[in-house]
This record gives sequence, structure tokens and C-alpha cells, in this order.
Amino acid sequence: MTVTPVLARIDQDLPQAIQRLQALLRIPSISTDPAYNDACDDAADWLVEELQSIGADASKRPTPGRPMVVGHLDGDGPEVLFYGHYDVQPVDPLDLWDTPPFEPELQDTPKGKVIRGRGTADDKGQLMTFVEACRNWIAEHGRLPVKVTFFFEGEEESGSPSLIPFLEENADELRKEVALICDTGLFNDKVPAIIASLRGMLGQEIILRGASRDLHSGHYGGAAANPIKVLSHILASLHDESGRVTIPGFYDGVPELSPERRAEWGSLGFDTATFLGDVGLSHPAGEDGFSALEATWARPTCEFNGIRGGYAGDGFKTVLPAEAAAKISFRLVGDQDPYKICAAFQAQVRRLVPPDMEVEFVDHGASKASMMQMEHPLFDKTKAALTEEWGLPATFTAAGGSIPVAGYFQSILGMDSILAGWGKDDDGLHSPNEKYDVESFHKGTRSWARVLGKIAEG
Ligand code: BES
Ligand code: ZN
Repeated sequence: MTVTPVLARIDQDLPQAIQRLQALLRIPSISTDPAYNDACDDAADWLVEELQSIGADASKRPTPGRPMVVGHLDGDGPEVLFYGHYDVQPVDPLDLWDTPPFEPELQDTPKGKVIRGRGTADDKGQLMTFVEACRNWIAEHGRLPVKVTFFFEGEEESGSPSLIPFLEENADELRKEVALICDTGLFNDKVPAIIASLRGMLGQEIILRGASRDLHSGHYGGAAANPIKVLSHILASLHDESGRVTIPGFYDGVPELSPERRAEWGSLGFDTATFLGDVGLSHPAGEDGFSALEATWARPTCEFNGIRGGYAGDGFKTVLPAEAAAKISFRLVGDQDPYKICAAFQAQVRRLVPPDMEVEFVDHGASKASMMQMEHPLFDKTKAALTEEWGLPATFTAAGGSIPVAGYFQSILGMDSILAGWGKDDDGLHSPNEKYDVESFHKGTRSWARVLGKIAEG
């Protein structure tokens, strides 16, 4: 069984593969908003049917939250698990989209053809590259060169609340030699990457409540406690002037960046001016003393993702709000403990809440950073396969985003993950006008076909 005819089939089948992806993209499977629960179910059903259509024994598995999809395809050689997520981020602000987010369009852009829509790059387009690679292996050779178990989650974008019990209950079914995860990007537009470490994440929302109703800011201002004022003070207290997070114990478990690692990353040719320039910025804004690459790959952060309170509509309204709230995410590295940090954060906030005001905390997930043991021989085989497809040596890099499952695969199943994906910096993950390059989809499918072939080589 050779990969060459499989690659030719992938090339020929590309228009149909794009149509299948568009069908999945039309399902608005936003996991963070309960209004879309049925859509998440529909996306899971769609995937089950798709896997069955290529011969897999696949089913939708209920959880207390959104369902998982698990499927098995027989083959020769070693057994691998493939993970992707079918849920997507909310679309707002909707008015910033040039096309409706769930009506995926093929568009010509100066940099090539793209598929535009929510979930194109994160993660439906990426997930389908693997499914299409399997489809074409089977179409060509009648079976896969390796045994594959598919595992699709529907809650990745909302902190994976059902994942731990699901992995514990289904450990024997899901534990394979290695996991393949397609939810990350290329190093740059031309160079593929295998991700050696991901940051963890702690999501916290704080809601401050003061007076029993909104108040006239003249009649009560100066006498009544103002939740926005307190919230601003709390948020401002979380960093010092050098950009460091002030929560006691926050840096426990953060490893020093070794001079070797610094030099290695320095030699990757990462261009900070372009990275920031592409989004209209020019000055790295994190902790003093770290490059933008180091700050996103190797340092923890505390970022504010959303804030509400009072009147922010057109015009002006002199009001003291009864309530103000903020959503905060911490990115974690090394051995930082999300639960300890959560407790220390909440204690720091509580100390700053004055009388006549109460605070509520809402949890939005907690996962540790993960670091892969890259000694497993399948890492080198994957690297060789990617290098063949992209024509430039694949690099081992890190990623600033979080994929909680990678850590749980290690801690619960004792399984490492090979993280490879085809996204580009300008894909607009979590933003309006998200897109996935047709090149990413096409070469990504070819890449997985090659990876499957290489893994089978023994
Ligand atoms: N695909 C991303 C993770 C990612 C982004 C990896 C960029 C590498 C580069 C993933 O779907 C994601 O966005 N995860 C969330 C997880 C969180 C809600 C726990 C994230 O990182 O914000
Ligand atoms: Zn994703």
C-alpha cells in the first residue's frame, strides 16, 4: 500500500471534500451558548454519519453536556487515536462579519482561495482533513494502513467540562499508542510545525453587585458604591508596572526559559514586527524582558476577555449600575496549578470588595499546561511526513493556545499527543470573518495521508 495514488485521489476529490466540509460548517454548533445545544447534537450526528460512510463503527456518546463522537476504523499496523472538536466559538460581534458566519463561502483573496465562516479553521476544517485522508486511503486501497479511533469533542471551546469523566469511563477504548490532534497551526505560511507544549487555562468570571437597582449618578454619586469603579480597581490590581501578575504564588511552577531554548527559538526566524504588524500593532505589551514569541509560548498571562456594566450604548446616560462583571482568562505554563491560582485569585479579589458589595465567581474551566515527550518514534515519522509534503523541514515549536484534552490524555490515559495542524496566523480564530485557506485544507489532507503511510512503515 503506497501513499502516491492516495495523494492523487485527494487532489481529484478536493471539490467534493470542500462541499462536505461546507455541510458541517452550516451547522451552528456553538458550545458556549445553550441556545445552540440542538445544533451541537446535529453536528455530532453529521459526524457519526460521515464516519459510517467511510466504514467506521461510529456512535454519538451522551455526556451531561454536549455529546462526544467515537468511531473505529480497522486497518493494519499500529493503533492511533485522532482528536478534533466540532464545537465553535460564538460569532459576535455579528456586524463585523462580511458574510454570514454559518453560510460558508469559497472566496478568492490576494493570498489565494479561502473558505470563510465560523469553525473553518477552528476546528471543523482541520478535523475534516484527517477524515478526508482516511476516506481516500480506503477508497484507494480498501483499508487503512493503521488502525484509527476517532474522538470528536463538542465542548472544547467551553473548557471541556465533560471530558475528564468521559476519558475515565472510556479509557480502555480510547488509549492507543499515540494521539494525533489537529487543532493547531503551521509555524508560518510555508513551514509545518509539531507542537511540543501548549499553555493551560483557567477561566474565571467575576460579578460584582452593589445597590438593589441602577441609580441616578448625580442623586447617589459619591454616596453609593459603584461596581464599575470597584471592578476597575480589581482588574488594575492584577498586574504590576512591569507586566507581572500580582497574585501571590502565581509564578510557582513557571520554569525558567533556558538559554538553549531561547537560542533555539531565536533561530526560528520569527518576525515580531510582522506578527504584530499584521493586526495593526507594533509594541509587545506583555511582561518586560521577554520577546513576543517567548511571551506567548513560555510565559503565563492574565488577560481580560470581556467586561460589562452600566450604559455603553449610543449617547450618554448618567447611571450608577447595580452590577458589573468581567471575564478573565489565565494562560498557564510549566507546573502552574490552576486550582491553587484560582483560590489565590479569588482571595485577592475578595480583599478588594468593599462593604455593601458582593462578589460572585463563575468557573469557566481549569486545565494545566501540557508538554509532550517527543521521544516516541512516531514524532520523527510525523516530522518526516510533513517535511515531504511541505518541502521544508517541519519544526518542533510551542503554542500559546490551550487544548485541554492533550493534558488529560497524558494524565488519564498515559498517552502523548502529536499536535499538527495547518492553520495560519491570519485565519482569524475566535474572530469575525474566520477563514481557512483551501491550501491548508488540501495540503493538510495530503499531510495526514502521508503521516498514516509513514506510521505504517514499521
Ligand atoms: N484551536 C484552539 C487552540 C489553539 C489556538 C492552539 C491557537 C494553537 C494556536 C482551541 O480550539 C482553543 O481556542 N481553545 C481554547 C480553550 C479554552 C476555552 C480552554 C483557548 O485556547 O482559548
Ligand atoms: Zn480549536
